[in-house]
Amino acid sequence: MKIITQLVMFLILFISLSPKLLWANNSANHLNDAYTYSNYHQVKVEHLYLDLSVDFPSKSLSGFAELTLNWLSDSVQPVILDTRDLDVDQVFAQNTLGNWQKVKFSLATRHPVLGSKLTIRPLFKTKKLRIYYNSTAKASGLQWLNKEQTLGKKHPYMFSQNQAIHARSWMPIQDTPSVRVTYNARIRTDKNLLAVMSANNTPDTKLDGDYVFSMPQAIPAYLIAIAVGDLKFKAMSKQTGVYAEAGILNAATQEFDDTQAMIDATEKLYGQYRWGRYDLLILPPSFPFGGMENPRLSFITPTVISGDKSLVNLIAHELAHSWSGNLVTNATWRDLWLNEGFTSYVENRIMEEVFGRDRAIMEQALDAQNLNYEIAEMEPDDTQLYIDLHGRDPDDAFSGIPYTKGQLFLIYLEQKFGRGKFDPFVRNYFDQHAFKSLTTSEFVQYLNKELINKYPGIVSEKEINEWIYEQGLPAFVPKPKSQAFTLIDEQINQWLTEELTLEELPTNKWTVHQWLHFINSLPIDLSLTKMTMLDEKYQLTASKNAEVAHAWYLLALKSNYDVIFPELKHYLISIGRRKLIVPLYKELAETDNGLSWALDVYSVARPGYHGLAQGSVDALLYK
Ligand code: BES
Ligand code: ZN
Repeated sequence: MKIITQLVMFLILFISLSPKLLWANNSANHLNDAYTYSNYHQVKVEHLYLDLSVDFPSKSLSGFAELTLNWLSDSVQPVILDTRDLDVDQVFAQNTLGNWQKVKFSLATRHPVLGSKLTIRPLFKTKKLRIYYNSTAKASGLQWLNKEQTLGKKHPYMFSQNQAIHARSWMPIQDTPSVRVTYNARIRTDKNLLAVMSANNTPDTKLDGDYVFSMPQAIPAYLIAIAVGDLKFKAMSKQTGVYAEAGILNAATQEFDDTQAMIDATEKLYGQYRWGRYDLLILPPSFPFGGMENPRLSFITPTVISGDKSLVNLIAHELAHSWSGNLVTNATWRDLWLNEGFTSYVENRIMEEVFGRDRAIMEQALDAQNLNYEIAEMEPDDTQLYIDLHGRDPDDAFSGIPYTKGQLFLIYLEQKFGRGKFDPFVRNYFDQHAFKSLTTSEFVQYLNKELINKYPGIVSEKEINEWIYEQGLPAFVPKPKSQAFTLIDEQINQWLTEELTLEELPTNKWTVHQWLHFINSLPIDLSLTKMTMLDEKYQLTASKNAEVAHAWYLLALKSNYDVIFPELKHYLISIGRRKLIVPLYKELAETDNGLSWALDVYSVARPGYHGLAQGSVDALLYK
């Protein structure tokens, strides 16, 4: 009897405790990156060597990856790597004598988001593994363009886009921003094509189809990048230059010739640029982002080459990542705001240094207004800085929150503490975490220690927590106020109330930013007469500035101004940058007519889009 009572008691205790045990385990997992299968706490990849051939007809990279391992565990463990849509052929481990021995491995079934876990079972704590593999045409991290899809129309073009979790689609790797590797590579391709990587590109490389690279600074897998095409180089300064197809090389170097000034300004604010050269690679317009901060070689959309430097904040942004993101890195994709919020903040400081305060404030105000519109349409749960990804692909949770809410948070701290205290704080933050990855809570700890508690009574921990862990924008959010925009607001009013005629609007004095603010601030029920008047006088439908055209098309769709359709069709077919096309498709999908028009255009445009853009637009139009 006594035994039975004891048994029952034990059972009750066990049942009441077990959920807690489970929960404890899960919460411990929060310290890990949920988007990697790798056991990086047991064994860490330290260095990577890629030996790959680029094959355009089969859209495949093939060869081997050699991984140098650092064992953190005492005993030999399986080495678990991330892959997605790779064919893995053979795996070898190097023994102490330097000989390569075949090793058993298994590739698990493909998880829709994470890909296929590759489990390698070495029999000893090998220093090096060699994995023979090839990527396939399905690789989500690569886009392969045929020659007709390029500017020069003579040669094909291929480029990678790894962030967030696409590195695994073209190399077996610990695909988490918590692990950093140095790398080198040998890339073979057609002998008239140039290969470039996020590594030491040498401007005078001989064109022979056989290229070697090395990246001596340790970087996470999402920053390993490659592009191959009919590329030419032109220097802008000793340290900076542009790789691009010949047809756009001069326009690019002219547009971006402030890059050196931007580097100098950032060094003055936040310390040394630690990566050697800084070059730009101009991609085809199907590049799904504005830019990607691949170290030493930012990847840039051609849609910011407007002829008047009005969109070069993108360069400031990608350059800023050389401090925030590439030097100090988010530990997981939930902490993306540590990369993008800091970078948006630094970007704007660079713009202020190089182009002046007025322009910097206008850019803040445009972003803040866009964020407000965006938040109004978002799931409240997705509006926290420390975002809950709920198992989604990080790409599917992408929004302005990590960028602009993150930036506004830092502007808030700047205003509260003053630049005298805040600038050194940021500079020290970069120095002390250089070449490290950190989580949001590690950042908060550092912030509390080095700013909040160091200068007590200015900002409370409660306010910090509201910024980071609560939804939407706090009541005390800074509201960027641009005089130049207030002027536009007044003029819009005067025009709408017919105090001023269109002829009397002083538009010849407006900057592109004022135009953007003007278009964004017009009422969506603007009469067709007024839309027509505007368009006839200012040729907005035909604007060659991709941002102005975007804003105008969006307004035109909302106010049923159908004149734009032929130009809009051309725009959607020639540009594949997600941020510019997705909102337009979304607006089109609101009406039956719009949707059927969009489906027609999309059937032509889709083959030219990157897989990421296809995914976003598919979800909108085929739902
Ligand atoms: N690193 C991002 C692009 C990115 C973010 C790719 C998350 C995949 C996942 C890049 O630095 C970026 O933010 N680009 C912006 C620039 C803009 C804010 C000036 C873009 O592409 O529009
Ligand atoms: Zn960025």
